[in-house]
Amino acid sequence: MRVLGIETSCDETGIGIYDTQRGLLSHAVYSQTEIHVEYGGVVPELASRDHVRKTLPLIRETLRQAGLGSGAIDGVAYTVGPGLVGALLVGAAIGRSLAWGWAVPGIGVHHMEAHLLAPMLEDPAPAYPFVALLVSGGHTQLVRVGGLGDYSLLGESEDDAAGEAFDKTAKLLHLPYPGGPQLAALARRGDPARYRFPRPMTDRPGLNFSFSGLKTFAFNTLQNAGGQGGLPPDDQTRADVARAFEEAVVDTLIIKCRRALRLTGIHTLVLAGGVSANRHLRERMAIAIEAEGGRLFYPRPEFCTDNGAMIAYAGAQRLLAGQAEALRFNVNPRWRLDELPPFH
Ligand code: KG4
Ligand code: ZN
Repeated sequence: MRVLGIETSCDETGIGIYDTQRGLLSHAVYSQTEIHVEYGGVVPELASRDHVRKTLPLIRETLRQAGLGSGAIDGVAYTVGPGLVGALLVGAAIGRSLAWGWAVPGIGVHHMEAHLLAPMLEDPAPAYPFVALLVSGGHTQLVRVGGLGDYSLLGESEDDAAGEAFDKTAKLLHLPYPGGPQLAALARRGDPARYRFPRPMTDRPGLNFSFSGLKTFAFNTLQNAGGQGGLPPDDQTRADVARAFEEAVVDTLIIKCRRALRLTGIHTLVLAGGVSANRHLRERMAIAIEAEGGRLFYPRPEFCTDNGAMIAYAGAQRLLAGQAEALRFNVNPRWRLDELPPFH
């Protein structure tokens, strides 16, 4: 079965074609960074309008790359939540309409389920059961994954998501949107010994997170280090703050992941979501998990951030299980992972 996947939940238009026998055939992502950069963040209405412009041309391009005509597609998968309502409506409307026009089944996909399954596009893929750390712009969650559709939430952020904390701290450092990768690049030049940020909620039991205090800590550190006459701190200080922030987030995530593995008795950890593209996180997490005899899996960076390949994969699994949507669609901007229908 060949499934076309459409991702439009935020500021990336992503298209992928996944073949359940042959694997991923092609994928393409168009990022709206240039549109939102002057506003310092995603402007929902501009995001929706750009998805309207980009989705169909990108579908044509992805079909062309795979050497396929539209008649070769057996199902269409589109993100229906969580995400920005207008942006979701664009992808869902296009996806459901194409499925109707091509007389194939259509399926609405949960964006976080797709992130969580993205490592399945890699070789080797992790075996179930595993613990997944989902770290994106909107979510920070630890999930026990027993199998397809079998997800139990172990812990989540009580305030900002990890990616959100990266983005907000990046703003304090005067870095342009999208802040996470920019902050990571700046941190590379930073001295890890100069500042020490707290590791929030690691001194008490449980698997929840809280990241909003770190940006306040960064703000105060920058204020105290400010140049003379209210000038912003020098470049090295900004890099040192970025480094201290990144170390604190990575350490906190490592502590909670090790705890989750111990509590569940599972030895496989999966990293997914935009922040899992962070090189420092990947490297340090691998060392920490392997030191305990566990195994770490993560997708290639382009499948950590939003993309259509993961939507095609997740949709294909549900279509294979006989699930499909009737001739209507609905989006769910606040859809929770534990509200997903099971596979059987
Ligand atoms: O999964 P994603 O593309 O979109 C959502 O579903 O939210 O995640 C985007 C988030 C943003 O907050 C972005 O700053 C962060 O992932 N991010 C990173 C890196 N690459 C993306 N954060 C830290 N380091 C990175 N290299
Ligand atoms: Zn995402």
